[in-house]
Amino acid sequence: MENNKKIILTGDRPTGKLHIGHYVGSLRRRVELQNSGEFDEINILIADDQALTDNADNPGKIRDNIINVVLDYLSVGLDPNKVTMCVQSQLPALHALTFYYMNLVSTARLSRNPTVKSEIQMRGFADEGLPTGFFTYPISQAADITAFDATVVPVGEDQLPMIEQTREIVEKFNRIYGDTLVLPTAVIPSNASERRLPGVDGKAKMSKSLGNCIFLSDSSKQIKDQVNKKMFTDPQHLKIEDPGHLEGNMVFAYLDAFCNDDHFKEYLPEYANLDELKAHYTRGGLGDGTCKKFLINVLEETLAPIRARRAEWESDIDSVYDIITEGTKKAREKTNATLQRVQSAMRIDYFKDRSIINEWKEVIKQ
Ligand code: TRP
Repeated sequence: MENNKKIILTGDRPTGKLHIGHYVGSLRRRVELQNSGEFDEINILIADDQALTDNADNPGKIRDNIINVVLDYLSVGLDPNKVTMCVQSQLPALHALTFYYMNLVSTARLSRNPTVKSEIQMRGFADEGLPTGFFTYPISQAADITAFDATVVPVGEDQLPMIEQTREIVEKFNRIYGDTLVLPTAVIPSNASERRLPGVDGKAKMSKSLGNCIFLSDSSKQIKDQVNKKMFTDPQHLKIEDPGHLEGNMVFAYLDAFCNDDHFKEYLPEYANLDELKAHYTRGGLGDGTCKKFLINVLEETLAPIRARRAEWESDIDSVYDIITEGTKKAREKTNATLQRVQSAMRIDYFKDRSIINEWKEVIKQ
C-alpha cells in the first residue's frame, strides 16, 4: 500500500542495559532522525515478547529490563513528545497479525534466515531443541513493522534479513488479499565501526557475560578502567617508536565510531583530525597511552550528558511509567486499526456489520 506518511518503527529486546555499541549502531541515529523533523511518526517498540522467545524460563529478567531500556532511550535524548515508546506484549494486534502471516511463510524459508541460523547456533538450540516461538520470531517482527505502517526501519546490519522477510510477507499478503500493507525499507549505519562496534577486547560481540562492554550507564571510572586496563591495541607496538597497526586495534575502531574534528581541537590540538593521528601511529612515534587518553576524553564527552539525563529520569520513575503507558495506549489504537484493515482485506470481519447474512443466504441456495 502507498503510504504518503513517513513512519519509523524500530525496537529492542529488553534483555539487558544498552551499551555503546547500541548507541553508535542505532540510538544515536534515532535521535538524529527524531530531531530532523522529517518524520510524521516515530515509534519505538520494547520487544518483550520477542525477548521471551529465548527466555521463556526467565520472564523476570525481561520485566526488569523494560525499565533499563526505557531509561537508556530517555537518557540518550529520545523525547517522549516526539517518539512513541511502547511495549510489545500489550499490543494484542501484533499477536493476531503474526498468526495470519505465519501462513504466508514456509518453514524452509525461515530455516534460511541467516540471523536466526546463527542465533540458533549461539544459543545451543540445535542440540537442546528449538522453541517454535524463537524459530518464528522473524514473522512476529514483520507483524511489528507492518502494524505501524512503517516506511523506514532503522536497524543494525544483523537485522537486514528480518526486513527482507517482512518485505516478502507484505508482497505476498498484498498479492493474495489486495493492496493492504506498506512495504518498509531498512536503514543501516553507514560506517563499519558504527555497524558493528567490537568489545573492548576485540571480540566481535560486545556482551555483558564477556565483560567487554561499556554500558551507557557506566561511570567515568568504569569507562577509564575498560579503556586503560582491558582495551586491546596492537601487540606488536611495544616501543613508542615502533610503527603501529590500526587493523584490529580497538582504540582506533572506537575513535572511528566516536570522534570528530572538534574533539581534536579540544583534547589533542596537535592533530587536526583522525587521519593525522592514524598516520602518526602507523609511522611510529606515537604511544598507545596518548591515544587511549584521547579516547577516554571523547567517550566521556559523549557519555557525560547521557549519564546526567539518566540520573534525572531515575529520580522520577513515576513519569517514566506514564510515558510508556501513554505510548502503549497510542500504539494499541494504531495497531488495532491495522489489524482491522488486514481482517477486512481477508474478509474475516464477519461481525462488522450484518452484510454477511445476505451472502450466507446465497450460500444456502447453492
Ligand atoms: N530483533 C530486534 C533486535 O534484536 C528487535 C526488534 C523487535 C525490532 N521488533 C522490531 C527491530 C521491529 C526493528 C523493528 O534488535
